[in-house]
Amino acid sequence: MISETLKNPLSLFDVRGKVAVITGATGGFGRGCALSLGALGVKLVLAAGSTAELAEVAEEAKSIGAEVVTINRRPDSVDDANAIRDCALDAFGAIDQLVVGSGYNKPGFIQDLDYEDWQAVMDANVRGPWVMAKAIGSYWIEQKRKGKVLLMSSVRGRHGNISGYTGYCTSKGATDALTRVLATEWAKYGITVNAIAPTVFRSKLTAWMYGDNELGQATRARSLSRIPLGRLGEVEDLMGMAIYLLSPASDFCTGQVMYVDGGFSAG
Ligand SMILES: NC(=O)c1ccc[n+]([C@@H]2O[C@H](COP(=O)([O-])OP(=O)(O)OC[C@H]3O[C@@H](n4cnc5c(N)ncnc54)[C@H](OP(=O)(O)O)[C@@H]3O)[C@@H](O)[C@H]2O)c1
Repeated sequence: MISETLKNPLSLFDVRGKVAVITGATGGFGRGCALSLGALGVKLVLAAGSTAELAEVAEEAKSIGAEVVTINRRPDSVDDANAIRDCALDAFGAIDQLVVGSGYNKPGFIQDLDYEDWQAVMDANVRGPWVMAKAIGSYWIEQKRKGKVLLMSSVRGRHGNISGYTGYCTSKGATDALTRVLATEWAKYGITVNAIAPTVFRSKLTAWMYGDNELGQATRARSLSRIPLGRLGEVEDLMGMAIYLLSPASDFCTGQVMYVDGGFSAG
């Protein structure tokens, strides 16, 4: 007998009617997820700090037919995370997917960096995912609902970098660990937790690498020289993996850091 899934394998990617909470929705990855998921019929709860940019992304998503609500908050605290969750529940009555697209970097050599700069990177990249996972995971567990969490790591969670990344690399190593520990804690509730680890892709975060400044050019050239596929990434390169990790296709996949990096981490 041929199963329904084998007869219709694209049903594995059917996310129509699901509700996604996306933080950092104004960013390269967050906006990419908002538009891609919106196009697939996912209802969107978009969270970010920049009011005008958030409204723009919401308008773009609506223009392709998505149902959208926005909340003008970053996940800086448990209160913020609870407010983002409650906004989603008020608007749509349920949450199925959490995408943490918010993140930050402040490159600088440790000898020049203030402690507060390091802490700001850790807060955005580790505290943010932690408070969001706590807020929405607690809801799933209490309601006995399944859910899918997508975090953003980086090849820098595994590889060092000579460009002054003590904050960023440390924070992404922590993201990898958070992915694995949440996956193991929450598997019994039917909640999957995975991360995408890209190399450089074009966004506000990496704009400094695309300009003429010396450190940016050197960092970009060095990244490029290590990418077997011969180019840097674009947001679109990450969307297939994002959709996979948020759809039924990934129901047996959890605790994984997925490298979508042009082969960077293979070499
Ligand atoms: N771009 C890359 O090459 C690359 C590579 C590997 C991994 N990543 C990771 O992918 C994720 C998304 O990055 P991206 O490239 O899309 O960056 P991005 O375009 O800069 O977007 C990140 C969003 O996060 C929010 N944000 C900025 N600073 C924040 C802070 N201190 N606390 C909380 N939120 C803050 C911003 O939204 P508001 O200002 O509106 O709040 C911003 O739109 C990040 O975790 C990043 O580390 C990126």
